[in-house]
Amino acid sequence: MSKKANSSEVESQSLTARLRMREHINGLCAAVSNVDAIKATQVRGENTFDDSAAQVPVVIRHPPIPQSLEPESRVNRSRSLQMHWEKDRLIAKNIISGQKSALASEIVSALQEFDAPCAATDAAARLDALADGGLLLRRLVERSLLVVEGSPLWAAEADTGDWKWGDDALAFHFESRRASFGRSPDSDRAVLLELTQNDPPPPIYKDCAGPTVKLAGGGSMQAGELWETLRRRRTSRAFGHGIMPAEDLANLLLWTWGKLREVEVSGIGKLLLKTSPSGGARHPIEVYAAVRNVAEIDPGLYHYSVRRHDLTRIGPPIARDELIAACGEHHWVADSAVVFFMTAIVERTMWKYEHGRAYRILNLDAGHLGQTFTLVGTHMGYACFTTAATDDNLIERLVGVDGIHEFAVYTCVVGFPSRDRNIEEKG
Ligand SMILES: Cc1cc2nc3c(=O)[nH]c(=O)nc-3n(C[C@H](O)[C@H](O)[C@H](O)COP(=O)(O)O)c2cc1C
Repeated sequence: MSKKANSSEVESQSLTARLRMREHINGLCAAVSNVDAIKATQVRGENTFDDSAAQVPVVIRHPPIPQSLEPESRVNRSRSLQMHWEKDRLIAKNIISGQKSALASEIVSALQEFDAPCAATDAAARLDALADGGLLLRRLVERSLLVVEGSPLWAAEADTGDWKWGDDALAFHFESRRASFGRSPDSDRAVLLELTQNDPPPPIYKDCAGPTVKLAGGGSMQAGELWETLRRRRTSRAFGHGIMPAEDLANLLLWTWGKLREVEVSGIGKLLLKTSPSGGARHPIEVYAAVRNVAEIDPGLYHYSVRRHDLTRIGPPIARDELIAACGEHHWVADSAVVFFMTAIVERTMWKYEHGRAYRILNLDAGHLGQTFTLVGTHMGYACFTTAATDDNLIERLVGVDGIHEFAVYTCVVGFPSRDRNIEEKG
């Protein structure tokens, strides 16, 4: 028979429960592995939050999407949470914001209740059963476990509503947007040397055991423009001075991104044909030209119309520092004639292919265009460079696309070759 607890025992049990809950909230707020660092937070005058993750030396260029919680706000559980176990901790990751949080079972149960919009005051009252409801509500919102109606995160979740490629491809989409630039093996030779010393690179060749067949022609390449251009194509990072004739820009656009012709497919409609192949002939890639140094064309940001083969001005010139930031801190882009931002209109490819594997097609298509660009540019005598180390959010803001239906994929840069080859030495 259970002994009836006296009032001081009840008080101490409830205190213990609340302290346990406090630990859970701490756990909830602790950053896990390489997640964005969380600053120690003062709660009721005590520092109760685990700030160990603040030591993680990772620079995340895309900070969590801030949400402001007002008394009149409505909140509901995020639709973009993925759960997994890390050792004995259940981890919830918001695939859009990238935040990971360790969840106590009480928090999981509490989140279960928030599957419909709920006023913040009611939400706090509901959470009061676990801890200080107002505080817990703020933490759940900060960790993007709960989403505030009308916030950018809420809008992003709504925008992914027509995504057909499944949660894993969507998670990859957002995860692969998060990167740190600045000191990286791609822009700092010392970092690359350090990496090589600590972890030597894998072999650059593969040899299989088995009988071999000798092949002719290895040394003596055929003569001709194509072979010559293929031989000459190199990534060039040193741009010299000069003004690109408008006709050269027109040719570069036409032979890389332009329409060769249209074909009518019965019952389906028109398809485009370009110099590069495209999965399903869907041609999802668009291109925007940041014109810097081209005769007769004012510096500014333009969209290339494939339909009309002309440029539509959509914005003023991009400031030098902003352009460098958009291009992974590669400062040499400032000396270029034109920077081409490629984006993908997902719907074009998704319409035909409903499986997540088709996400690869967007990247493969952009890769083909990148190679065509460098071959055309090389053939015309220009210095060409491509980069995937871009700040997609910034590019998307500049060209005015949402990062979900149309998003940045690859960037091409063209300029006059420079005699200064030093910068070319990097790998
Ligand atoms: C998808 C892709 C992304 C690249 N990103 C960068 C980059 O961020 N920074 C850079 O300096 N070079 C970048 N490059 C250029 C490569 O470093 C270059 O192709 C490589 O060093 C080989 O030199 P090559 O192009 O002259 O053959 C990229 C190339 C490709 C294909």
